[in-house]
Amino acid sequence: MTGGSAIDGRRLLARLDAFAAIGATPAGGVNRPALSAEDRAARALLASLGAARGFSISQDAAANLFLRRPGADNGRPPLLIGSHLDSQPTGGRFDGALGTLAALEVLETLEDQNIVTAGPVELVAWTNEEGSRFSPGAFGSQVYATGAFPWGWQDTVDNNGGRLADELAATLAALPQAAERPLGGSFSGYLELHIEQGPLLEREGALIGVVEGIQGTRWLEVSIEGQVAHAGTTPLADRHDAMAVAATIIARLQATVMPADANARLTVGRLTLTPGAINVIPGEVVFSIDLRHPSGPEIDRLEAEIIRLVSETAEGGGCHASVRRSMDVAPARFDKRLIGIVEDMAKRRSFSCQRMFSGAFHDALFMARLGPAAMIFVPCRGGLSHNEAEYVEPHQVIAGAQVLCDATLEAVAALAVA
Ligand code: GLV
Ligand code: MN
Ligand code: MN
Repeated sequence: MTGGSAIDGRRLLARLDAFAAIGATPAGGVNRPALSAEDRAARALLASLGAARGFSISQDAAANLFLRRPGADNGRPPLLIGSHLDSQPTGGRFDGALGTLAALEVLETLEDQNIVTAGPVELVAWTNEEGSRFSPGAFGSQVYATGAFPWGWQDTVDNNGGRLADELAATLAALPQAAERPLGGSFSGYLELHIEQGPLLEREGALIGVVEGIQGTRWLEVSIEGQVAHAGTTPLADRHDAMAVAATIIARLQATVMPADANARLTVGRLTLTPGAINVIPGEVVFSIDLRHPSGPEIDRLEAEIIRLVSETAEGGGCHASVRRSMDVAPARFDKRLIGIVEDMAKRRSFSCQRMFSGAFHDALFMARLGPAAMIFVPCRGGLSHNEAEYVEPHQVIAGAQVLCDATLEAVAALAVA
């Protein structure tokens, strides 16, 4: 057993309840889209909890929100810990909130126990990790890591015509108590606690996932253009039916990509057809493809295969097609030293643990490009996430946050003398 600092599990569970009430859905989930009024309310609550403990509050131009607890030497780069507060439209109460509130619990534990860390520790709540309202996902960490906003971001709109640029400005303005800080900045390390969002830990009966890296993600937008025509009068030979072409493409992709490779993931999660009338042949169909694989070259190969299939099928169906990338994130490998610290801390608490790769993308992916980063996973019931029924047992929540706390203390000391 470690002599390390024990977190206050009850406080953390109460915080999770309080944040789950912001954007709560009748089915027990959370709808807190990035940069929405609910997201702003969650950010305001986090800032007020931080301010109450004397942490300094700041936000950058991407609305990434930071709570800083100073250390002995504040000239040292901070150790960053955190996650995100936005959710999917029918999201769960743990995705993102767990890592963000566990990071707050770590800062509060250090404060309660008067622990002086070698350097500062900063909580970060990243903006728009989900990407379901405004593409791309992991927006805030990407802007932090690259120092620049993605190309064309000002023109990005949500399904209701809301502009990303306007919503970002309103979100920044809603937190005037946060000091402005420049984008980016050096850090000694980055740690993120998250639910696994998959079934592996539960299946193996492990409490802690020691995450070694994250698979790559590519988002594509496929547009099929045909011809609007009468549903009742137009014979087969005269049809340029964009929906018939889209359906064929999707069926072919589902029948080939994942069945051929157990590591590949392909999802069509969004489809719009125009004009969308029951008795009109659709003239345009636009659908998304979420493509993932642990190997970057394999993502390239699959994308080329998709483009070939799309144009071939569209041509055969008398339509035109185009494919556009809306997000492209290469796979990442985490820092061996931080991975070792996470594993050692889990073992020191006698928590069963397992090394694994992440199927979901996370803000840690972008941080890993800039400096040492690692993640801690805890199981979720049935592996279910991006679902209102997402659930993590209280003892799993507490174990994950405890490992985050122990790893924070270990990392802030180890990386300070590096
Ligand atoms: C993150 O939300 C992902 O889609 O992996
Ligand atoms: Mn998440
Ligand atoms: Mn998510």
